[in-house]
Amino acid sequence: QHLFTFNEQEYSSTSSCKELKQRFGFSTDGLYYLSTASGVVYQTYCDMTTAGGGWTLVASVHENNLYGKCTTGDRWSSQQGGSPNVPEGDGSWSNTVTFGTAEAATSDDFKNPGYYEITAEDVAVWHVPNNERVDQWKVKSFLRYHTETKFLNSYSGNLYNLFKLLPVKFGVGTCPANHGPSVPLVYDLGDATSNHNLYGPNIRAITQPGFITFRAINTEGAALAICSGVKPTGCHNEHCCIGGGGHFPEASPRQCGDFTGFDWDGYGTGVGWSASKQVTEAAVLIFYR
Ligand code: G3P
Ligand code: CA
Ligand code: CA
Repeated sequence: QHLFTFNEQEYSSTSSCKELKQRFGFSTDGLYYLSTASGVVYQTYCDMTTAGGGWTLVASVHENNLYGKCTTGDRWSSQQGGSPNVPEGDGSWSNTVTFGTAEAATSDDFKNPGYYEITAEDVAVWHVPNNERVDQWKVKSFLRYHTETKFLNSYSGNLYNLFKLLPVKFGVGTCPANHGPSVPLVYDLGDATSNHNLYGPNIRAITQPGFITFRAINTEGAALAICSGVKPTGCHNEHCCIGGGGHFPEASPRQCGDFTGFDWDGYGTGVGWSASKQVTEAAVLIFYR
């Protein structure tokens, strides 16, 4: 009885899926409860199987309306219209505001305390079609990859700290001098070419496949948070990167929103600068390990 109580206390203060796997042996993908150091309990999804498992879902970036330019639902850019007066937009990449639920992570934005609290080394990303139920995420996803370089060790252990060092803020730097890191990817579903093909031909011509890039800058000095699957070699990064600051000067506010300028040459057309319908209508799930 004593041992059981002790273990239960240990379990109730578990801070990551990695710890759940390593210390308690949980090995099934699905929803679990985690706790912060100060005792905030929250539910999230653990990927317990990919490449050794222990991946904690900390965020999802969901585009609810690509026609709404920095309006309601653009929590990873700005819900405040796209003005240079709010250069960081909602600031979600580097603040402790949380929103959404794990269960709805493909139907709305999600950010839990693990995003800023967990100390991690690598990230994994899944692209899952919008509105899929939790038990379908893995089978319905069309792209899954992770890093293995332990790059987060160089950025104080998570994306919250990385984006404190590299603010997602309009005017913070220039392209390409002030881009953040581009980290090589290991693909768990799909490959660098299929990933690249999710974006329009114009942007494919000025990006290198097989990387995840953090805090890219575009031609006009807008800051973008994450470029999924690419390393920019040019500067029109608003067509392949998600999340950003509060102002995108080119044709403002047309490039302002969680999926930035994915619709520049039409919604879901996959021509010119536009992204495919598949990637446009899928949530981006971000994991730590
Ligand atoms: O990001 C693309 C834009 O800067 C140029 O667009 O329509 O003149 O090719 P466009
Ligand atoms: Ca959103
Ligand atoms: Ca441009």
